[in-house]
Amino acid sequence: MIESVLKEKRVFYPNPELSKEARIKSMDEYEKLVEWAKNDFEGFWDHFAKEKIDWIKPYKKVLDDSKAPHYKWFVDGKLNITQHCIDRHLPQKKDKVAILFEDEMGNVEEITYGELYERVNQFANLLKAYGVKKGDRVVLYMSMIPELAIAMLACARIGAIHSVVFAGFSANALRDRIEDANAKLVITCDGGYRKGKVHNIKSVVDEALKEPLDSVEKVLIYDRGIQKFELIDNRDVVINSELKEMEKECEPVILDSEDIAFILYTSGSTGKPKGVQHAVGGYLLWAILTMEWVFDIKDDDMFWCTADIGWITGHTYIVYGPLAVGTTSIMYEGVPVYPDAGRWWKMVEKYKVTKFYTAPTAIRILKKVAPDEPKKYDLSSLRILGTVGEPIDPESWLWYYENVGNKKCSIVDTWWQTETGGHMISPLPGATPMKPGSATKPLPGIFAEVFLEDGSKAGVNEGGFLCITKPWPSMIRDVWGNPQRYKKTYFSFKGNIYLTGDDARVDEDGYIWIMGRADDVINVSGHRLGTMEIESAINKHPNVAESAVVGKHHEIKGEGIFAFIVPREWPENLEEFKNSINEVVTNEIGPIAKPDWIVLTEALPKTRSGKIMRRILRAIAAGEEIKQDISTLENPEIVEKLKEAKPI
Ligand code: PRX
Repeated sequence: MIESVLKEKRVFYPNPELSKEARIKSMDEYEKLVEWAKNDFEGFWDHFAKEKIDWIKPYKKVLDDSKAPHYKWFVDGKLNITQHCIDRHLPQKKDKVAILFEDEMGNVEEITYGELYERVNQFANLLKAYGVKKGDRVVLYMSMIPELAIAMLACARIGAIHSVVFAGFSANALRDRIEDANAKLVITCDGGYRKGKVHNIKSVVDEALKEPLDSVEKVLIYDRGIQKFELIDNRDVVINSELKEMEKECEPVILDSEDIAFILYTSGSTGKPKGVQHAVGGYLLWAILTMEWVFDIKDDDMFWCTADIGWITGHTYIVYGPLAVGTTSIMYEGVPVYPDAGRWWKMVEKYKVTKFYTAPTAIRILKKVAPDEPKKYDLSSLRILGTVGEPIDPESWLWYYENVGNKKCSIVDTWWQTETGGHMISPLPGATPMKPGSATKPLPGIFAEVFLEDGSKAGVNEGGFLCITKPWPSMIRDVWGNPQRYKKTYFSFKGNIYLTGDDARVDEDGYIWIMGRADDVINVSGHRLGTMEIESAINKHPNVAESAVVGKHHEIKGEGIFAFIVPREWPENLEEFKNSINEVVTNEIGPIAKPDWIVLTEALPKTRSGKIMRRILRAIAAGEEIKQDISTLENPEIVEKLKEAKPI
């Protein structure tokens, strides 16, 4: 853990103006909600489920834990998410902008709730025309364009299960996900904008499906007209004109609260990425409540989450959450530094953004390349600033607070995961005193605790495993096709409590400080990658005998990838070798997984039973003292050599 975080003692109080208008105005009000959930757990959730959701048919039971850890929420309740995200806003908000899209080139598209209704219905009718039915899986591999959100909602309209794959993933990674989900359709677009250039998207799908997969019947292409592509006979369909001809009405399919809303793949410490399954009712409820509590959404807000929809943050806080509460969701396709580091601030000024949500890695880049840039723009519309995806270092927090928020905005450092569906630990903007670097306290209804390895409760400031001790509505329901993995990964530590995979400590005020992952997962620029995944990719290189990957602190990315590689033959040209490793990793996973440092070694430190000593490798990468006893290793002499080695 970074030294400065341990010493961090500053406290910042919410702006009284903000508290006055907020839904939850004080810590007293927060504590009351927490107590309510503690004393009457089901009554608490029952209240909000009834208040926030228009059930087509009411549920019979709030929580069924008879098959724990496979929990069921709002049993037998019937609903459809798109009715909440679109239909129910139409009487008052037909002409309000639902999605405000801008791309790097400055093209803008405003889609009102009325238009969204028609376009989602048309897309849903198109899916039906291609034989998609409730429960079918549809993989979406698209750039950040409105059609991606529309396609997701179209799936939700008819009860199909979407699985969005981040468009930065390689063809191999995409193929794995299509195959695992057994998808019937793949939806894509021609290309996307990034750093002022067009990157190919459709051709990646072609590469992924070069060897056809039995389950995939069609590939639908939305053509933006920015990139030429080939059409494969009997498989590919350009949908632009068909879409326009579709009926603008499509009855929503009535779904069960526990029907699968979507699958989203995420990395774990072992094996291939797992398909995290979310359920319709619970996911929707928590998306709504967190929009209201954490972003304190009001009717006149302009909400901008800069995430990519390929990750859970984009699912919950660009698409489902903002639309479910009827706000305007800004969607931007591109990087924060194009054409310059003022791009985002310019957009905040232009659209009078009130709530802005981004990742620490973006804050660090903007702070580094143009620390004074925010001052050139009028950012006075901002009320709440959010961060997500990785711990934020106090200095970046402070820069964000002072330079972007002008010391008037609350910063909500939201801790959560793909598996949690929505925020779990976060300040409430009108109530919680903020400590830079701490995600502060669990939201009402969420019960978080830190345990030591032996299962006992950690003491004050003692690091341990962060766990969620009671179920919550938007929790992961299963790992797609692998219930055993669900139990083993999340519920094998201590009874039926959920193991998050993060290390954390709780300070003397009950504030939670996330210390990073406890497992073999690396968080690179807020992107979650399994070390095993990266190692398997590196091992595909013809001149690699073995490899081990660990995380190491990185100034911009938070964590960078440090790879120890045992080559079969010592390469003559190190630069060439490094490039060829990068190429393999880019092909297998995507450019985000390229190692930042590579050390070549004749062997890896191993125990006598052949286990790679990752802890030792982590210490070597960090340049830290090695605390373990190395005398019991199979090859203790390698440790000294590795300490001397210079990364390439
Ligand atoms: O390690 C935690 C880190 O991101 C992990 C979850 O990654 P993913 O499922 O990709 O979801 C990211 C977006 C929700 C967590 O296990 N993480 C997320 N938010 C924070 C964080 N670490 C520290 N502080 C946060 N606010």
